Amino acid sequence: MNTPKPIKKAVFPVAGLGTRFLPATKAIPKEMLAIVDRPLIQYAVDEAREAGIEQMIFVTGRGKTAIVEHFDIAYELEKTLSERGKDLSVLEPTRATPGDIITVRQQVPLGLGHAIWCARAIVGDEPFAIFLPDELMIGKVGGTGCMRQMVDAYNEVGGNLISVLEVPREDVSSYGVIDPGAEMGALTEVRGLVEKPPVADAPSNKIISGRYILQPEVMRVLEAQEKGAGGEIQLTDAMAKMIGSQPFHAVTFDGKRYDCGSKLGFVEATLALALEREDMGAEVRAMAERLLAI
Ligand code: G1P
Repeated sequence: MNTPKPIKKAVFPVAGLGTRFLPATKAIPKEMLAIVDRPLIQYAVDEAREAGIEQMIFVTGRGKTAIVEHFDIAYELEKTLSERGKDLSVLEPTRATPGDIITVRQQVPLGLGHAIWCARAIVGDEPFAIFLPDELMIGKVGGTGCMRQMVDAYNEVGGNLISVLEVPREDVSSYGVIDPGAEMGALTEVRGLVEKPPVADAPSNKIISGRYILQPEVMRVLEAQEKGAGGEIQLTDAMAKMIGSQPFHAVTFDGKRYDCGSKLGFVEATLALALEREDMGAEVRAMAERLLAI
C-alpha cells in the first residue's frame, strides 16, 4: 500500500475540570501537575514531537491559560536567568515554533467527542493524532514512545489506530473497550468499540489507553452530536461508526502506562520516574527504603 498521509497535527483535549485532584486543581489545570519536574502536558507534547508531530492543538476551557503560558517564551524569566548566568536549557522542551501551538475553546463540557469536534476547523482534511494527557505513556529505555510506535504501525496499515492495554476484567467499565479481531504482532484488528460497558457485556479486557490516530472523517460523524455513555458525546461511539468503512487497528504499547487521572496512578508515576532518574534515582531509592523501614 502507498505511504499514508503523514500525521502532523495532534489534538490535546485539556478542558476537563480535574475534580479528582481538588483542591490542587482549583486554580491550576490538572495537566500542569508535575511528575517530578515536568508537567503532564509536557510529557504528552514531547511524545508527540518524538513521533514527528508539529502542530499541537489544545482544546481548552476556562482557567486553562497556564498550559498556553507554559509553551510561551517567559521573557522576564529568561532575562533574569541569563543575568544570573543560569543554564536556560531546562526551558528547551517548552519552546514552540511560532504558530505550532494553537488553542480552541470547548465552551461547554459535553464529552470527549465534543472536545475533539471543537478542533475540526484546525484539523481540516488531514489524519491527526489525539493525546489524553492523563494517560502517561513511558517508552522503554532506548525504545520509542507510544505515539512513535503507533505512527510506525500507521505507516504500514494506514486508516485509524488506537492504543490499547489489558486491564483486570472488573475495571473495564471505566474505559472504552475493543472487540478484538485478528492479531498480527502488536497490532490487533478492531471489530467493534464500546464506551464504558457493564463488565458482563464487555467484548474483551482490552481498553483504549488515550492515544489515537484518526482519519478526518471522524469529525463528520461527530457533527451529529449524538449522546452516548453517561449522556456525553463519546469519541468511542464516533470511531465505532467508522469500523468497516476504513481500516481500524489497535496497537499494544511496548512500554509502561500510568493512569495519572487517579491519585494512586499519579503517585506511582512520580515514584517510578523519580527512581529511573540518573540525577536522583539512587537517593530516592534510599529514601523509600528509609521510609518503609519505619
Ligand atoms: C476516555 C475515553 C475512554 C478511554 C479513557 C482512557 O474516558 O472515553 O474510551 O478508555 O479515556 O483514559 P474518560 O477517562 O475521559 O472517562
